Amino acid sequence: MVKKKGPAVRIRKKNAEETRKKLVGMGLMDKMRFPMQRGEHVYLPVVGGEEAEEKLSGSGLEIVRVELEAREIRKNFRQKLIELLGEEHAKGVLSSYDIVGDIVIVDIPRELEGKKTEIGEILLESEARAKVVLQKAGGREGEFRITKLAHLAGEKRTETTYSENGVRMNLDVGKVYFSPRLSHERKRLCELVKDGEKVLVPFAGVGPFALEIGKFSPCAHVVGIELNPDAVRYFEGNIRLNKLKNVEAILGDARAVVKERFVGWADRIAMPLPKDAHEFLDVAFLAAKPGCIVHFYSFVDVENGFTQARGFVEEAARKAGRKIEFVFAREVRPYSASKMQVVIDFKID
Ligand SMILES: C[S@@+](CC[C@H](N)C(=O)[O-])C[C@H]1O[C@@H](n2cnc3c(N)ncnc32)[C@H](O)[C@@H]1O
Repeated sequence: MVKKKGPAVRIRKKNAEETRKKLVGMGLMDKMRFPMQRGEHVYLPVVGGEEAEEKLSGSGLEIVRVELEAREIRKNFRQKLIELLGEEHAKGVLSSYDIVGDIVIVDIPRELEGKKTEIGEILLESEARAKVVLQKAGGREGEFRITKLAHLAGEKRTETTYSENGVRMNLDVGKVYFSPRLSHERKRLCELVKDGEKVLVPFAGVGPFALEIGKFSPCAHVVGIELNPDAVRYFEGNIRLNKLKNVEAILGDARAVVKERFVGWADRIAMPLPKDAHEFLDVAFLAAKPGCIVHFYSFVDVENGFTQARGFVEEAARKAGRKIEFVFAREVRPYSASKMQVVIDFKID
């Protein structure tokens, strides 16, 4: 791990996120070093120079000089990959890997199969957090949406601890679905939930949506339903790990569990089952109280995708005999040349 000394704002943990946003807004965050937490304090790297010092001096923030982990590592990684694969191929690999805790998961294009061991070693050497490198050995499969993975480099394990939006989660990437790519959506939902809300997450996985909402809104009651027993085991452990009293994990099929316990219960429903999620929209209508907001995630065509997704919702509303109002929509992420993932927020009367 390469460290670099420089100025940083020292701030109490509870004020760190707000201060980070403020510093980003002022253009003062140093993007070449990582923030660090020590005990009750967080060190936020800021840029040096006269202008920055002047802006910071009137801010009332405590400025210290500390060594923080440098981001330059990524640059070395890029260079090493370019040396090994050439510019074009390197670009493809760079855009196709995720880091979950200390595990790197990389999708290696077929034409680079012969170089996979070297790619694995480069990832291990260059990604500061990496202790394990795994290769995707197929698409997401079955109802549990699990990706087959093969070992490429580092320690031989698939279990890790991942932190996101102030929540720690243990999970096994070989036994459950997990994607760090929805972290900004989870943050968005956290900020929308109001005190006292009853929130239902019918496809909860190891609990990222449910846990983060529960942590962010201690006065909300959050229930996650999940079909994969391994995912529920981690979900329950993660509730204990984060000491959350307002989050409940239920093992079972979302449709059956809602019919049994949650008809007309929810003020808010997050439906993070993008594949075939529209087939479960009837479950959302069943669980919704009047005024309930649903966050519906769906994979749709790049062309006309929003109309397609709204069409699913309108059709389900018609079948349920309920009125709806669309309140928000956006592209969550591109998926392929012809598909994207979108979220549609709508209110059920
Ligand atoms: C796309 S994943 C989302 C997981 C989690 N919310 C996340 O963001 O990491 C969908 C999850 O739904 C679960 N699932 C699939 N069908 C289900 C059903 N009928 N009832 C409950 N959960 C289901 C799968 O096992 C999987 O964990």
